[in-house]
Amino acid sequence: MLIPDIIIAIDGYSSTGKSTFAKRIAAEVSFLYLDSGALYRAVTLYAIEKGIISPAGNIDRHALCRALDGLDIHFESKGNGSRTYIGDRCVEGEIRTLAVSEHVSPVSAVPEVRSFIDDRLREFGRRKRVVMDGRDIGTTVFPDAELKIFMTADQMVRARRRADEMKKRGENVDPEEVLKNIRERDFIDSHRDTSPLSMAEDAVVLDNSYMTIEEQMVWFRRLVAERFPMKES
Ligand code: DC
Repeated sequence: MLIPDIIIAIDGYSSTGKSTFAKRIAAEVSFLYLDSGALYRAVTLYAIEKGIISPAGNIDRHALCRALDGLDIHFESKGNGSRTYIGDRCVEGEIRTLAVSEHVSPVSAVPEVRSFIDDRLREFGRRKRVVMDGRDIGTTVFPDAELKIFMTADQMVRARRRADEMKKRGENVDPEEVLKNIRERDFIDSHRDTSPLSMAEDAVVLDNSYMTIEEQMVWFRRLVAERFPMKES
């Protein structure tokens, strides 16, 4: 599909299917796909492993800020997607567990963590042709992104999706726990002081509660054709 060299920012609540949609879009327009949440998850995993987060969930903020100094967290390209690394260790699987999900929102509310990750994300935007998903991509990371989509879906539908994903990975799932985690993350993500989850004024809303991925792609193609009319040469 023809599209100019732009940045596509996809923001929205947890488990709205942002990454599935963003990956499909990236493949469709041959852009690089980057999942900004993966970097927040990697910092959280690192903090858990180093005892910076106590089992009760208390964060030693000074220790966390010290740990960021020199912390090598990055993406390595794979096809038109990427994998998340801490140093030379691929942590793509470990960062998706409930243990990480339970602590990631408070970690991502720490302003020093946000600016550490923002710097890394912005490097990828220099050459455009990127689809990035997260919570503040269209508002803070790339406020000038040429196309911004804000995704939302019913909380119960999202909890079911997240539970299905976890089951597929062989994790033990308590559906009530998953719904509770989604509610808590919605609240923390949209109420934190630094870069709270909010919709950019120029974003287009996609509520996919009752849409298949194919229906979302039809919606996307129509949106692009309207916004960026280009003639085949
Ligand atoms: O998209 P996700 O569920 O993997 O994101 C994990 C957490 O990271 C989420 O609870 C909020 C945080 N996050 C953020 O604050 N800003 C982003 N741009 C991406 C994720």
